Amino acid sequence: MERILLLHGPNLNMLGKREPGIYGRQTLDDIVAAARALAAELGVEIASHQSNVEGELVTRIQQAPNHFDAIVLNAGAYTHTSIALRDAVLAAGLPVVEVHLSNVHKREEFRHRSLLADVVEGQVIGFGAESYLLGLRAAVSLLRSRQPVPPRARPARKRSTR
Ligand code: DQA
Repeated sequence: MERILLLHGPNLNMLGKREPGIYGRQTLDDIVAAARALAAELGVEIASHQSNVEGELVTRIQQAPNHFDAIVLNAGAYTHTSIALRDAVLAAGLPVVEVHLSNVHKREEFRHRSLLADVVEGQVIGFGAESYLLGLRAAVSLLRSRQPVPPRARPARKRSTR
């Protein structure tokens, strides 16, 4: 079973209270609960971790290959500033899907640049809490399209009737 880490950066613990006009009313717990329900449907395992501390996020990304097959990452404001997170993504070598609740391109110019954009597999931006679910689906489909089908899962070959 594939294992996927949902990793959330600074201020995402404030979802629900924080700028609801931009980020909506759902809390991070609500979002993770919806992701858990989707994970069960898709047959994958997820874990979730939020930190406001850049170095803690770096450590989680470094350790991820020991426990996970992919990361769904909302690095919050560190997206726009952190070379350390970018380097950690490169060092980990795991597929990473970058997600954002808000459409950062419709917002202040400093949010238009992501230091992660060219080192992740892809981005899901602007769908509110749904960005996480789309990001999770994307991570699963990436992993499944890469994994060769094991021989026992292939349909049995038909015996010749001749
Ligand atoms: C965010 C967008 C970032 O610019 C901002 O700093 C966040 C949240 C989003 O999910 O829309 O904290 O990553």
